[in-house]
Amino acid sequence: MSIFDEKIDRLKTSSVKWELTKEIFGESDVWPMWVADMDFKPPQAVIDTLKYRVDHGIFGYTFVPVSTAKAIADWMLKRHQWNIDPSWLLYCSGIVQAISLSIQSFTKEGDKVLVQSPVYTPFFDMIEKNNRVMVNCPLILEGNRYKIDFSAFENALKEGCKLFLLCSPHNPAGRVWTKNELARIGELCLQYDCLIVSDEIHSDLVYRDYKHLPIASLSEELSEKTITLIAPSKTFNLAGLQASAVIIKNKALRNQLSVTMKRQGLFSLNAFGIVGMEAAYLHGESWLEELIDYLQNNKDYAVQFINEHLPEITCIDPEGTYLLWLDCRKLGLSDEELREQLIRKGKLGLEPGPKYGPGGEGFVRMNLACPFEDVKEGLKRLEKAFK
Ligand SMILES: Cc1ncc(COP(=O)(O)O)c(C=O)c1O
Repeated sequence: MSIFDEKIDRLKTSSVKWELTKEIFGESDVWPMWVADMDFKPPQAVIDTLKYRVDHGIFGYTFVPVSTAKAIADWMLKRHQWNIDPSWLLYCSGIVQAISLSIQSFTKEGDKVLVQSPVYTPFFDMIEKNNRVMVNCPLILEGNRYKIDFSAFENALKEGCKLFLLCSPHNPAGRVWTKNELARIGELCLQYDCLIVSDEIHSDLVYRDYKHLPIASLSEELSEKTITLIAPSKTFNLAGLQASAVIIKNKALRNQLSVTMKRQGLFSLNAFGIVGMEAAYLHGESWLEELIDYLQNNKDYAVQFINEHLPEITCIDPEGTYLLWLDCRKLGLSDEELREQLIRKGKLGLEPGPKYGPGGEGFVRMNLACPFEDVKEGLKRLEKAFK
């Protein structure tokens, strides 16, 4: 029995995943394996620290103390072998907010911003809503693994992109980029003077045979040209606490982002976000090790089940993230038909592939961060949807 086997009722907590199914899928009895949060409690130390803070009873203005910055820096060194100075940190409530603020800080309206689809939807939204121009260099699927077409990537940079939104590890492709890939990305971005905003929100959720490398840690030059976004939200299931961090070594860039934040009246995090984030990075490591083993088992089981029972669906076996990207194209259904069958026949709520941009057509994304019994339930429904 694992701590992650515990089935926790999330109703009446305003859970997006469990309580917005009617709005999203049109039916409320849909099994939710869509939005990327986990159905697990965070490390006990996080809960205890939050309770202690609640019991204090005063929730006035707060600042992010040096101890939080130090906890983040220690975590980055221990888990990712990247030695950062606590002074390089800024804070945001969420990574999407940090992406938007970065676009506002480092580009002008009409500037080109590079992405690699299929990719996390708000990458497109933040570019569009800030009136920037998206340049897409789609990933290519070779066998069951996504790759970067580096000559297309270079051509895209030649168009004059000012900023590249890197998703590392990649959602939904599940890739943990190798040192060679990151080095080549870095080399090209430096050559064409394109700033890198590296969304590393999934960096702690990497399976045993893989290693996440922060792109900024590869060289001195890259650390000066990269804005790295991290958060305890995916790692420890703390998305509702709304606490994320931005790592920027280059002082001028850091000041630029800081000015944008202040202009928008963003000065600090909420009291619970601060203490929850610090406790997670200080005390969450052994919990995380256990979680990765648990997720690995969920993922391996799901891949095997789908291979055996639904041979028309191809799993893109993830190297990181708890998200399984399913290639359903051999089913020969339109995206509308896929959605209908999943919802009406399977009663299963998955993310539709087209949300992730070009290359997402015919795919769906399944969130496996739930108790093993719930993964089995979801897979049964997946089978029912297409039998
Ligand atoms: C790549 C990526 N970035 C950002 C986010 C969301 O970040 P936040 O909730 O902190 O805005 C997600 C959530 O799924 C994600 O997958």
